Amino acid sequence: MAVPLTASKKLCFFLLVFCFLSLSCLARLPPACKRIECPAYDVVHATNGYEIRRYNSTAWVSTSPIQHLSIVQAARTGFFRLYDYIQGKNNYKQKIEMTAPVITQVSGSDKSSSFVVSFFVPKKNQAKPPPPLKGMHVQRWKKTVYVAVRQFGGFVNDTNVGEEAAALKNSIAGTQWSSAIDKSHKKGGGYASAYTVAQYNAPFEYADRVNEIWFLFDMQNRKGNMM
Ligand SMILES: *[C@@H]1O[C@H](CO)[C@@H](O)[C@H](O)[C@H]1NC(C)=O
Ligand SMILES: *[C@@H]1O[C@H](CO)[C@@H](O)[C@H](O)[C@H]1NC(C)=O
Repeated sequence: MAVPLTASKKLCFFLLVFCFLSLSCLARLPPACKRIECPAYDVVHATNGYEIRRYNSTAWVSTSPIQHLSIVQAARTGFFRLYDYIQGKNNYKQKIEMTAPVITQVSGSDKSSSFVVSFFVPKKNQAKPPPPLKGMHVQRWKKTVYVAVRQFGGFVNDTNVGEEAAALKNSIAGTQWSSAIDKSHKKGGGYASAYTVAQYNAPFEYADRVNEIWFLFDMQNRKGNMM
């Protein structure tokens, strides 16, 4: 028995199929961001395999570099320090809301890697984040920071992060983003790390996990960018 479809149902169905066929590989809002605060961003460009985002100035609380061979271990160490910070181990003894993602900036070679793990400061504390205790600092991003993003599911491990970063590099190869990323990387400073891993889920969450590889960069020559 055929049920006549209303126009809106048809549109919905069409969108569903369209999304399924062509957008299934695109980034989606990590489900964690429906429960806890995540930094707002604008999508500048979206295509199969990657997305370019623009974040306005955001403040993060970061660990000092953690030397380790394993990103999993380093991120865990960093996470516990940040957890103490939000639980009130800061100069104001102030508790802070949990946010997502926790990002790990990866620098160095295979033999000696260094990781800086950071927590996104909630909007309400952005102007005046409680000063962290020794071994941590506030990291304030520039007015506009561009990020090339690739999403992947499951748990981050020491094999898949490198593979996902290589895949992101491949999918942007030859684009304007790729050359901007190379240029920013050479300039160093906040763009010196090889890549950043953004994790949105707690270790005890098994379903619907979303992680991202980020390449941070600067687009000084982009029209309309007031930097
Ligand atoms: C970022 O700043 C620009 C310029 O002020 C503004 O148009 C845009 O909406 C902001 N984006 C977000 C996500 O806050
Ligand atoms: C790392 O994760 C991938 C899937 O993302 C999985 O196939 C692989 O077995 C994992 N490796 C280790 C060492 O856990």
